[in-house]
Amino acid sequence: MTDSEPQLEARLAEQDSFEPPETFVEDANVTDPEIYETFEAEWPDCWERAAELLDWEESYDQVLDDSNPPFFEWFTGGSLNASANCLDRHLDERGDETAIEWVGEPTEEANRTYTYRELHDRVNEFAAGLRELGVEADDVVTLYMPMIPELPIAMLACARIGAPHSVVFAGFSAEALATRMEAADSSYLVTCDGYYRRGDPLDHLDKAETGLADVSHETTTVVADRLRDGDGFGHDLGPDEYDWDELMAAHEGATVDPVSRDAEDMLFLMYTSGTTGQPKGVKHTTGGYLSWTAWTSQAVLDVKPEDTYFCSADIGWITGHSYIVYGPLALGTTTMMYEGTPDYPEQDRLWEIVEEYEATQLYTAPTAIRAFMKWGTEYPDRHDLSSLRLLGTVGEPINPRAWKWYYTHVGGEECPIVDTWWQTETGGMMVTTLPGAKTMKPGAAGPPLPGVDAQVVGPDGEPVEAGQAGYLTVQRPWPGMLRTLYRNDERYVQEYWAEYSDTDSDDPDDWVYFPEDGAKVDEDGYVTVLGRVDDVVNVSGHRLGTMEIESAIVGVEGVAEAAVVGGDHEMKGEAVYTYVITEDGQAETEAFREEIVAAVEDAIGPIARPESVVFTPELPKTRSGKIMRRLLEDLANDEELGDTSTLRNPEVVENLE
Ligand code: WT7
Repeated sequence: MTDSEPQLEARLAEQDSFEPPETFVEDANVTDPEIYETFEAEWPDCWERAAELLDWEESYDQVLDDSNPPFFEWFTGGSLNASANCLDRHLDERGDETAIEWVGEPTEEANRTYTYRELHDRVNEFAAGLRELGVEADDVVTLYMPMIPELPIAMLACARIGAPHSVVFAGFSAEALATRMEAADSSYLVTCDGYYRRGDPLDHLDKAETGLADVSHETTTVVADRLRDGDGFGHDLGPDEYDWDELMAAHEGATVDPVSRDAEDMLFLMYTSGTTGQPKGVKHTTGGYLSWTAWTSQAVLDVKPEDTYFCSADIGWITGHSYIVYGPLALGTTTMMYEGTPDYPEQDRLWEIVEEYEATQLYTAPTAIRAFMKWGTEYPDRHDLSSLRLLGTVGEPINPRAWKWYYTHVGGEECPIVDTWWQTETGGMMVTTLPGAKTMKPGAAGPPLPGVDAQVVGPDGEPVEAGQAGYLTVQRPWPGMLRTLYRNDERYVQEYWAEYSDTDSDDPDDWVYFPEDGAKVDEDGYVTVLGRVDDVVNVSGHRLGTMEIESAIVGVEGVAEAAVVGGDHEMKGEAVYTYVITEDGQAETEAFREEIVAAVEDAIGPIARPESVVFTPELPKTRSGKIMRRLLEDLANDEELGDTSTLRNPEVVENLE
């Protein structure tokens, strides 16, 4: 880089497309642009290439069974085990190589490295422990854990014995844990005593136990010991609680044969927010999901066994499932896990880790990149980041300025950036560039991946013209797709398919998947995702249902009605804005406002913390009585108000302004 900073800024500001850096293309896993045509011509058999990345116990007889849409099935007749694919098959060649590189918090503590053999051994021991506690194939095991190695160990142990896991993000509240355990009818919980945030210990077990008290069936809990002696909160384990270390010690050296799972057997459940207050249990399967995450890790993240690949997401979200645990381990690479935050002890923490471990890829979120930009270039500049080969983002749209900052100051203009659009339901990436084969356009995620038929359509379901806003749809099934919502096939059809499908038809071509995102597409087929079109707020790349937040607020005594919307936020992308009608006699004080904020944190967790609570005598409603959220969103964003003519009570808007 010979430009001065202002010259560089000016040059980049004008550039709206970037070619894959040559140094990257030389060794990239996928470089042939023909792959798009080939996959198109071979579809659906093209997905055998993904399945071939795995070891199958019994090979499948059919790639796609589309006889009962939208209940599509992939690689039917095949059987395999996910833990065997992530561990056992790598032992001969890579047993002594690092599988997980764990960087813990606080920083002075020794970090932990697990070779494939060590990880395999721990997973076997824990699998034996789970069996002893009574866990059988198809029992849902809930994992409520922060970013500690025991989490992927527990996930893989569940996979080994065919027990689906349901990971609940550690930052979620006790109530959120209880709702999810109840909904999944899950009788087993694996959690831990606590963890560290910015050097301070947090009491996690207290939260877990509060949640368990609200679960109506009997439960068995395993508690890992994360906090160092002296930092603990002095909990004594109850009769249904088992100590992780004791359980492991009792099964030291145990081996558990991986249970053969049908390709379509459930690998895990993951609860995510939707339009109604009740979270949706997204069901992913063994064969399709694992093929999808392995294939996209290889083709998009360019993962190779000799890499040290770093995804900074939390395993409590789908990104961590697919791209810290399953995809990278299926490919036999070294995957990193970081327990802490990017700004502790200093704002160069991530760059320090990249330098120390010589990370080859970094996959993070736009919200983090915006924070890095704000903190300044001095932090990445302090470190040698030349080990990086590829950068990625996920979770929300990234604006071109942040993209270019990432490209320049982190990637040194030598790393392609993959802006990957996907969701909990898709299992893995769907729309993004192939980094070794495609031009990048900052701000646009890219074209659909080869074999993926994503289209932007209008309300009539017909493709919109280039440049026009419309709705993103996926017109064909794909192996990584969710199979249903747990125990709720009807809601699965309603939520994802009803909008654009002929739901009476049994012709698979009549079925169109609707991810509930708005988007536009340019003349080259590059998709820019504009954001959710349902009642979901995307806070720092985390999905929160406005209905869930509203129901927490109306649960506060003194609240008559509430509306929650997402408003723009400089760092978080979106933030939670709330409008509250109080009951007669309830004083609209600061203290009451705080009570409302606390209720939201209790019900969901600190990530859902409202940015503002506005008291109002009325909410803008349509004549049919529906709250006009769009107007509230305009208000939250200080925007010119849209059409108010359909309001029953237009005067309330003036009072809210
Ligand atoms: C929603 C899915 C995918 C794992 C993390 C979030 C938004 C995701 C992008 C992107 C624009 C994006 C969408 C999507 N989103 N990636 N690259 N550009 N928007 O998973 O919690 O299931 O949320 O995140 O709105 O529907 P999730």
